[in-house]
Amino acid sequence: MEDTDNDNKKIKLEVRNLVKVFGPKPEKALALLDEGKSKTEILEATQQNVALNNVSFDVYEGEIFVLMGLSGCGKSTLLRCLNRLVEPTSGSILVDGDNIPEMDEEELLNFRRHRVGMVFQSFALLPHRCILDNVAFPLEIQGISQEERHEKAEKAIGLVGLAGYENSLPSELSGGMQQRVGLARALAGDNDILLMDEAFSALDPLIRREMQDELLDLQERVNKTIIFVSHDLDEALKLGDRIALMKDGCVVQVGTAEDILTNPETKYVEKFVEDVDMAKVLSAKDVMKRPEPLVSVTSGPNNALHLMEEYGISSVFAVSKHRKYEGLILVDDATEAKKKGLGLEDIIKRDIPAVSPDTPVSEIMPLVADSAIPIPVLDDEGKIKGIIIKGSVLAALSRMEV
Ligand SMILES: Nc1ncnc2c1ncn2[C@@H]1O[C@H](COP(=O)(O)OP(=O)(O)OP(=O)(O)O)[C@@H](O)[C@H]1O
Ligand SMILES: [Mg+2]
Repeated sequence: MEDTDNDNKKIKLEVRNLVKVFGPKPEKALALLDEGKSKTEILEATQQNVALNNVSFDVYEGEIFVLMGLSGCGKSTLLRCLNRLVEPTSGSILVDGDNIPEMDEEELLNFRRHRVGMVFQSFALLPHRCILDNVAFPLEIQGISQEERHEKAEKAIGLVGLAGYENSLPSELSGGMQQRVGLARALAGDNDILLMDEAFSALDPLIRREMQDELLDLQERVNKTIIFVSHDLDEALKLGDRIALMKDGCVVQVGTAEDILTNPETKYVEKFVEDVDMAKVLSAKDVMKRPEPLVSVTSGPNNALHLMEEYGISSVFAVSKHRKYEGLILVDDATEAKKKGLGLEDIIKRDIPAVSPDTPVSEIMPLVADSAIPIPVLDDEGKIKGIIIKGSVLAALSRMEV
């Protein structure tokens, strides 16, 4: 597995001054762009549509890079320029140093086959073919032998958790499972880079969150470089190691979730995250949930596991007498403890960040943005008053918006 140490980032993809103009006379639009005219002005003057306006950014190896922005801002166009499903008008796209726009047809074909895979919003499965052959389809087009493509397809099907469904037809699978097949199809090629365009947007919210978790889990195992298009802030915060916010064909800010939330560089970014200004007036007590369930630290792992199952959660806070906060019990640790006959004391996590009821939400955002575990709210005496999860912060903030 590659080293993904933060101090040691390797640039995988380098986009410089990328422009895409839709229309028969891009030169006219380019000249006006040089004069500093806006997308709307150019559209009015020339009928040429500037979908990408001088876009530059880097993507590091092994990261999930999210392209985010409102409908029509150019996300799909940008993604499709990266493998030249859309031909860029000008600019460069370097992948491991190779300039994609300069590739001839054969080089491009090789690039698409061996170095970059794509997952679309619609699953686009072949209805009369079984799952195995659907996943193996791109390999079949490449002329790879049946034995080899089935071997690769089976491995990819296993990676997305669909082992056993190889011989099923797409119609026998749920929407979430069909999207997994789409993902497996992109993984089967074993390319370094995955392009995903609104890949989860067609799924209902619960399945969508499940797929997001699975993508994160999968990413830990396969360590691809993933460029993921989304127009959903919550999805971008959850998935993105870094996020590029786009507007009218421009990339207006690139940064981690925390950068974007706490240092919006333009008015537009500020608008996207204006909730967070509200965050300065709200504090922990405004967004916390009731502290339940809680488990007594002197009880055993069975009890903790039972509570987690009942509430459908993967961790539970442990307390001693009078709700005095002790720490967090994680489901995996509790399962281990049960097997080994250990007590909760042996597996409790005591180093979870905690906040007080008056901690401003602006200080809590970075804590929840980067972490899947809940945050306890403790009073002066160390008693647990509430629990904060990312969802409840965002929900409370969006309620305040009106
Ligand atoms: N094939 C095309 N021909 C002409 N104009 C196009 C074409 N594809 C996209 N555009 C224009 O380019 C701009 C960017 O479109 P794009 O599809 O990249 O947006 P998007 O950010 O992916 O939007 P959405 O969130 O709705 O998918 C829009 O103004 C769109 O009308
Ligand atoms: Mg799109």
